[in-house]
Amino acid sequence: MKLSAIIKRAGVSELDASDATVTGFAIDHRKVAPGTVFGAFRGAKFNAEDFIPAAIEAGAVAIVARTEAAVEGALHIASDEPRKTFAQLAAQFFTPVPQTIVAVTGTNGKTSTAEMTRQIWRMCGERAASIGTLGVTTPDGSVSTGLTTPDIVTFLSNMSGLAREGVSHVAYEASSHGLSQFRNEGLSVTAGAFTNFSRDHLDYHGTMDEYFAAKMRLFGEVVDEGAPAVIYRGGDDSDWTCRAIEHASARQLQVLTVGEQGEFLRLAAREVTQLGQTLTVEHDGQTRIVKLPLIGAYQAANALVSAGLALATGADTAMVFDAIGRLQPVRGRLERAVIAASGAPVYVDYAHTPDALEAAIIALRPHVDEANGGKLVVVFGAGGDRDTGKRAPMGEVASRTADRVIVTDDNPRGENAAEIRAQVLSGAGENASEIGGRQDAIAAAIAQAGPNDIILIAGKGHEEGQIIGSGETMRVLPFNDVQVARECAAGVVS
Ligand SMILES: Nc1ncnc2c1ncn2[C@@H]1O[C@H](COP(=O)(O)OP(=O)(O)OP(=O)(O)O)[C@@H](O)[C@H]1O
Ligand SMILES: [Mg+2]
Repeated sequence: MKLSAIIKRAGVSELDASDATVTGFAIDHRKVAPGTVFGAFRGAKFNAEDFIPAAIEAGAVAIVARTEAAVEGALHIASDEPRKTFAQLAAQFFTPVPQTIVAVTGTNGKTSTAEMTRQIWRMCGERAASIGTLGVTTPDGSVSTGLTTPDIVTFLSNMSGLAREGVSHVAYEASSHGLSQFRNEGLSVTAGAFTNFSRDHLDYHGTMDEYFAAKMRLFGEVVDEGAPAVIYRGGDDSDWTCRAIEHASARQLQVLTVGEQGEFLRLAAREVTQLGQTLTVEHDGQTRIVKLPLIGAYQAANALVSAGLALATGADTAMVFDAIGRLQPVRGRLERAVIAASGAPVYVDYAHTPDALEAAIIALRPHVDEANGGKLVVVFGAGGDRDTGKRAPMGEVASRTADRVIVTDDNPRGENAAEIRAQVLSGAGENASEIGGRQDAIAAAIAQAGPNDIILIAGKGHEEGQIIGSGETMRVLPFNDVQVARECAAGVVS
């Protein structure tokens, strides 16, 4: 494709470009080949403007950078927002893209909502994919990992790769980092969704207002003009939700609220069952009752946002409600791994902070049959070489909210596993015990569980390995909580 055509279509510059042919886009100078457009951005760690000469040496035909950057020997596409301009240019090159693309933002629930949206579309007969922290999930449900926070080039090339495989619908996770760095845009986004907002990532964004503003770029700039904006409104509506609605309204988006206080999809009632929940939902003047096979109030919230996105992008109403009743768990998010021989269900969740651990336990609590002696048992540990301050609070939260606590190993990394366990235990009470090996701990919890108990294995979620050691001695042992739980329940290991 000619550089002049790309610049014209992106409408980013009045430059009279040369007739050079563009062969690719790169933000890493080591990936520059003859014909590449190179994006030179100033990041927190290094300044890619330093690599402009190397990129030109390697054959870059154009450099997207600040006006102040020194560019000699290639076209300088100058911009106050080089990342944004680069995204707009690259999007002209990576074509075709799926027809229907939706983006999900919010503090929690992005991955889950994107993945549930994929599942609903699929059950409505569409070829759909999702992109998020878990990787790219394709229509057959297979996941390719390795691009958890894709850069703009990976993101756009993934999109066109999916389109070439016949994928027509994609739901992606728009994180605040991705939004503030223009990493997931440039193409037409049919609809956007906002799940919720709370304290997180302030180390990066500085203040809550800046963090929120980053998220609001989704409604303010990324989605198409007049696009549907699906916004979750729970029972305890926060100011942030109202502000999100204001942002979307200010750009004349089609605001569709879902949840207890939603107007588009109103959650009129939610009743907990042993392995799921029954939702009474009002939509378009009709009341529908649907049995969601997932537990936890927040999974119902995510399912409603996903249903809102599917409906907003033209899916059939009856099929969408039917699909909610057949949603599969998102990997490592309150995922039921197995039901033990005793009858106790075993859940895996990647909660690895005190707050998340408490949220997961609270989500499970209503499902415990306490009247018949049911107990909630939690198995978890804390990772090594990371935030030591959270260890005792995790022990405290687990002890306070669960009935029995088994403290075990997470990813010890370079630390002594027994010392990490001791730190977790220092915050825990008398209902806590210690079992070192993670497999032994899971096996013990399953072997000891009564018929009305529920077991939660927290901390590692979808992870496939256990990291032991650091530096040269680091090893990753194959370990997946879901698989280990199944093997323990089947008596394969004990
Ligand atoms: N709607 C929700 N409201 C509150 N908490 C939620 C919600 N959805 C998920 N969570 C919590 O957040 C955890 C992560 O969920 P998920 O991976 O879907 O979120 P995410 O926004 O993609 O997170 P990340 O920013 O880490 O990628 C869940 O295990 C659960 O504890
Ligand atoms: Mg995520």
